[in-house]
Amino acid sequence: MTLALDRQNVLAWLSNRVPAARITHILGVEQTAGDLARRYGLDEAKARSAGLLHDAAKYFKPQLLLQMAQKEGLELDSVLEAHPHLLHADASAIVARDEFGVVDREILDAIANHTLGRPNMSQLSCTVFIADTIEPSRGNTASLEALREASVQNLYAAVWQTSDYSLKYLLETRCYIHPRTVLTRNWALQMARRSTQTENSTEKSIAQITS
Ligand SMILES: [Fe+2]
Ligand SMILES: [Fe+2]
Repeated sequence: MTLALDRQNVLAWLSNRVPAARITHILGVEQTAGDLARRYGLDEAKARSAGLLHDAAKYFKPQLLLQMAQKEGLELDSVLEAHPHLLHADASAIVARDEFGVVDREILDAIANHTLGRPNMSQLSCTVFIADTIEPSRGNTASLEALREASVQNLYAAVWQTSDYSLKYLLETRCYIHPRTVLTRNWALQMARRSTQTENSTEKSIAQITS
């Protein structure tokens, strides 16, 4: 059971803590995650709630992010300690729970997983992970258009390709790469291949039945 989120309350809270451009991005993620959820038969309201709250802690100071993570008992590694901004995903889930009373585990996980992903994450998490990269205000480059096309074909292929897109950016800009991004990428690639194999074998079975 999902507690209905007071959207206006969230928007008012965000408007005091997040610049206007980031609000545009947040609304884009809310819409895109909802669209993807509908496309794949998932809970659209949950995806929209996760999208709306996913960057709530985006502008929290590094020290606060580290404090929140420690208080929550989250495991910190060398990459997170060197780059606490990555913790804004987990911190946003904490804000969703503590400020807005979100108790739905799937919504909280989708918020927490939006930056690094996580192997075996739910399909709802996949929608927010993808939406964060492809929402309309991110631009219209050929790479983004290819990701948007992939997102309506196969959810796992889109997660894998979104991870590749992020990894390329991190390599080009000489940024730290968190191991979870790589683990998410490999898991999604495996899931995409499995779903393609299942589709192929189903097609073969249908062809045998109808021949
Ligand atoms: Fe984010
Ligand atoms: Fe975001």
